Amino acid sequence: MASRKAAAAAVAAHVAVLKGRPLRAALSEALAKAEGLGGNERRFVAFCTRELSRHLRWLDRAAKEAGHAPSSFHLEEDRAVMRYALWRRFRLGAEAAQVMREVSLPGPVRPRSVPDAVVADALGKAVKVPEDEPALAHSFPTWLAEAIGSPQVMEALNREPRIMMKVRPNGTRDEVQALLAAKGITTAKVEGVADALVLEDDGRAIFESGPMKNGRLVVMDVGSQRIVELCGLKGGETVIDFCAGAGGKTIALADAVGEHGRVLAWDKSQKRLAEAKERTHKLKLRHVSFPLELRMDDAQLVLIDAPCSGTGSLAREPDQKWKLTPEAVKDFAKTQGAILDEVSKKAPQAVLVYATCSVLKAEDEEVVEAFVKRSKRYTLEASMRVWPQESEGAGFYAARLTPLGRAR
Ligand SMILES: C[S@@+](CC[C@H](N)C(=O)[O-])C[C@H]1O[C@@H](n2cnc3c(N)ncnc32)[C@H](O)[C@@H]1O
Repeated sequence: MASRKAAAAAVAAHVAVLKGRPLRAALSEALAKAEGLGGNERRFVAFCTRELSRHLRWLDRAAKEAGHAPSSFHLEEDRAVMRYALWRRFRLGAEAAQVMREVSLPGPVRPRSVPDAVVADALGKAVKVPEDEPALAHSFPTWLAEAIGSPQVMEALNREPRIMMKVRPNGTRDEVQALLAAKGITTAKVEGVADALVLEDDGRAIFESGPMKNGRLVVMDVGSQRIVELCGLKGGETVIDFCAGAGGKTIALADAVGEHGRVLAWDKSQKRLAEAKERTHKLKLRHVSFPLELRMDDAQLVLIDAPCSGTGSLAREPDQKWKLTPEAVKDFAKTQGAILDEVSKKAPQAVLVYATCSVLKAEDEEVVEAFVKRSKRYTLEASMRVWPQESEGAGFYAARLTPLGRAR
């Protein structure tokens, strides 16, 4: 059961998303404005805000099937209230009367021109959305559904993601898991990923736990951890994190090379690097540095966690699927190829690990194949896909490229 306050906050966040705010920002602004919401209600608002973006196309079709096409509404607020009501009724199975208690006028949502009778009418219909078109059934733009090409992937990208973590130092998973269990926090080990834990309950206690506060645990997707495993580091190496961003993989690389190794973190954006600096500083990772001028010649390995469409992360940022365009994907592929060219020139002896959080071949296999062909200097030694339906986290791709003549 949702309160009127929670419903209003979710609808307000959705309206802000429709007006162009990134979902995360829209959500935290709506939550900041809504006073007096409890923990469960706040979680409901976050879930609902993601769900309205995830199922937007399906919900609009449901409104049309109910005789109230979104084009007949005047305001974004009207469309948002209708989507909220249909989502509660037809995707969560709430009673129509309960949904009306949450949204009825004098409304928690203003301005609003759609009367209660119209919402109630839609909720009373036996709405059926055709299931034979995957783009509609899973609520994706048609071009993107075709580029993804798999209903299972789309379905997985519509699921609420689990909270995944990496334990530190490497090889101490049993110990950290026991520390958490002693505080009543249940986690599960991820098979095949040595240091990964997945949160089993949906409480927030994990964020206040000792291991999280003292750096024995960091939030990190299982796919990210597998990418660092593909780097095959034994300890003591010098590696470059070329697109370090906010430093997620920098931490895992630093753990993998150990104190006798070095990680040089670099990013085009100083703003993003600032976060990486703060995080590595807090964790006292003294073997990570952020050179102002990057010399790459003594690196054994360069991780290129390339800028990409983020289609593998749509479960966390579902608003992105409505903002992305086919042209943007082409632009990403161009940038990805250019970064590979640049790095291969500056670090000609280094192994390259190219990675994205995209599920699109155009940014993954096709970029790597074109690079191998163009450079004539690299062998594709290994590649991997982390599919969201298998990992319960984001989708990733990674390829390990070895310069010809280099001993493995
Ligand atoms: C996928 S994000 C990196 C995420 C990060 N590695 C992590 O694990 O948190 C891609 C990053 O590439 C950076 N970037 C974009 N173009 C670049 C370029 N030409 N050279 C270096 N970094 C670039 C972006 O600023 C962005 O931070």
